[in-house]
Amino acid sequence: MTERQGHSAPAAGGGTGRWLFVLAGLLILIGLAFAAWVLIDSLNPSAEISGPTTRVDLATIPPGGRETVTWKGNIPIFILHRTPEQIAAARADDSAPMKFPEADRDRVQRAEWLVVVPRCWRGFLPKGQAPGEPRGRWGGWYCRQHGDLYDLSGRLRTAWGEANFAVPPYSFEDDRWLIIGEGP
Ligand code: FES
Repeated sequence: MTERQGHSAPAAGGGTGRWLFVLAGLLILIGLAFAAWVLIDSLNPSAEISGPTTRVDLATIPPGGRETVTWKGNIPIFILHRTPEQIAAARADDSAPMKFPEADRDRVQRAEWLVVVPRCWRGFLPKGQAPGEPRGRWGGWYCRQHGDLYDLSGRLRTAWGEANFAVPPYSFEDDRWLIIGEGP
């Protein structure tokens, strides 16, 4: 009798402890999920995501501005609102030596909007979107992993990379809204 009482008291306490442990775990999971949602949402300040398409409000990106949005949940897209000088610089380099030559006109639907998937060849996200980040000699983007440089058309300008930035399917709903994920 004495022995059973001695065992039953800790068992009740252990049950309460387990519930507290489970509750604490749930609260941590909810906190992590919320933090992840805030992080993902912060990548899309001007975008509305709906299934396979991302709708971007171009009015929020001034000339020379750069915006990063996500497409299909986790694919980063770089958008550059190119100035006349940036367009001219990209086009002046059309015949420059490149590993994967492409005319700038073939990479954009509207000269002032560059829309690209910025995956570097090992999956790293190049720098250059945020003010103050290194952009390299051609003013586009820089990947610090192996030093690749990309120009204002998203073309690879150094020798050791594996591809230009890809151009995703996209279309312009009008002069304000860009739809990523639907071709013209
Ligand atoms: S992964 Fe970007 S330069 Fe190598």
